[in-house]
Amino acid sequence: MVERYETIDTDVLVVGAGGAGCRAAIESSNHNVSVTLLSKELFGKAHTIMAEGGYNAALGNVDPADNPDIHFKDTVEGGAYLNNQRVVEILVKDACERILDLENFGGLFDRTAEGKIAQRLFGKQTYRRTCYASDRTGHEMMATLVEEVRRRDITVMDEIFVSHLLMNNGAVVGAAALKIKNGDLVVLRSKSTVLATGGTGRIYSITTNAAQDTGDGYALGFNSGAQLVDMEQFQFHPTGIVYPESARGTLVTEAVRGEGGILYNSLGERFMKNYNPKLMEVAGRDEVARSIANEIIEGRGTKHGGVFLDISHLPSIIIEERLESMLELFLKIGIDIREEPMEVSPTAHHLMGGLSINERAETTIKRVFAAGEVTGGVHGGNRLGGNALADTQVFGRIAGENAATLAKSLSQSPSLSKFEVDQAYAEAYASLDRKEGLSSIELRKRLQRLMWDNVGIFRSGASLSKAVDEIVRMRNEASRIATQDKNPSYNKEWIESLEVPNMLLTSEMIARSALMRQESRGAHYRKDFNKTDNKNWSVNIHITKEGKTMKLWTEPVIITKLKVPI
Ligand code: FUM
Repeated sequence: MVERYETIDTDVLVVGAGGAGCRAAIESSNHNVSVTLLSKELFGKAHTIMAEGGYNAALGNVDPADNPDIHFKDTVEGGAYLNNQRVVEILVKDACERILDLENFGGLFDRTAEGKIAQRLFGKQTYRRTCYASDRTGHEMMATLVEEVRRRDITVMDEIFVSHLLMNNGAVVGAAALKIKNGDLVVLRSKSTVLATGGTGRIYSITTNAAQDTGDGYALGFNSGAQLVDMEQFQFHPTGIVYPESARGTLVTEAVRGEGGILYNSLGERFMKNYNPKLMEVAGRDEVARSIANEIIEGRGTKHGGVFLDISHLPSIIIEERLESMLELFLKIGIDIREEPMEVSPTAHHLMGGLSINERAETTIKRVFAAGEVTGGVHGGNRLGGNALADTQVFGRIAGENAATLAKSLSQSPSLSKFEVDQAYAEAYASLDRKEGLSSIELRKRLQRLMWDNVGIFRSGASLSKAVDEIVRMRNEASRIATQDKNPSYNKEWIESLEVPNMLLTSEMIARSALMRQESRGAHYRKDFNKTDNKNWSVNIHITKEGKTMKLWTEPVIITKLKVPI
């Protein structure tokens, strides 16, 4: 059936080349195993480069009273007590060491006057612990990690799309992938695999996320039988650009508020005093996003449909040095933030739910590890700004180490099933081969509107049921996608025809979990259950594949130190 494909053997296969994937590959390469790192985009063009504000580590450089225990407490309280506390303990401790690794690889974070790594305030954190490189922290990290990967014996394959994980006896033994350059199928046979595929912000019409964030890893994991956790917990960042339309949703870093930015409505009121008079603009992201959305819904928004975020009271030098890319970005649209306010509104940012992992970054499928946004449990119901970059380095390293150790323990390369490869091939080429059918672009746009309108900041049983029904219909329709362009070389439409089913599957998991959770907690807000119900709902929602459907169930949260207040 398969006409031609190349088979590549590797000990460790890392799928995804952002912050977590690069860190995993670097760690694996310390263990005398062969490592192959796959990137959907050109190597280096990962979503991590778009991370602006920073990396949390309780170094105590600016506020000496800070320590990992307080970071732990902030993370679990911020996460509305849904976090797996075992992995949070690791996050807060290891984040301090991993930032030093980055500096040893050649990265440079901003400095205090004494030459220590500088730290700024981010929302809902007791102390200033967010380390930064101006407001382009992710960019600095990626440049550093890419150079380090290049210095090592790591095979990098970029512009390659993984369409399937390949199984043998209940374990993942490799992946089927398409070379975007020429459309050729490649089969990668691996002893262990790390999924570090990032998030899925592109399921929403307004998002901070890069075009490649289409939920591929959640779908690859689910289709192979992995368990996922708390998929209803999708974070809306409070501040995205409102206009021009082409830039809508682009991240306006939380560092703006951390450095002293103030939110006003169109009546000139500092409205956060009505929602959280104590923390004001540096309240949790979930709360600030809902407050802004509420001001807009109740008619106190700006003419472009946002609210004002003002930083003009700060000395220009602070803006120029610490918010350099914000200044540049807004100057391009004719706004000098040293003198006038920005207009902002919430934008889809980060999925806290994802593949369940344990302390060793093992997923529930044999031979598969995972790290970064594709995982769930670390951030609970609401991620603290700055914890994502730390997560990529902490669990990237752990995943890479354990994947390498496992690969070394296996003497023989696994065997692949020809049937599975044939099936992967047929499915991957179906939309290209089909003479006529539906457009993936239309389906994607419909999904993005549906998710924004019905599974957004405010949800209800009715909106969620509508979303689930519609997504199920759309998943059926997706089996009839046909590309117009039949040339397999650099065919964006074809790759999108494979991404859209991943987006639909991920969206269904999010909508079904949101429908199940009959309370409001963290980023998940139900208009029909608008209170947090600790008595009945301080539980995680798990999902796995059962036949052709999804099985959902609840389990108690993993607690090590901090009990849920009842
Ligand atoms: O606002 C920001 O700079 C985003 C940071 C984060 O999501 O961690």
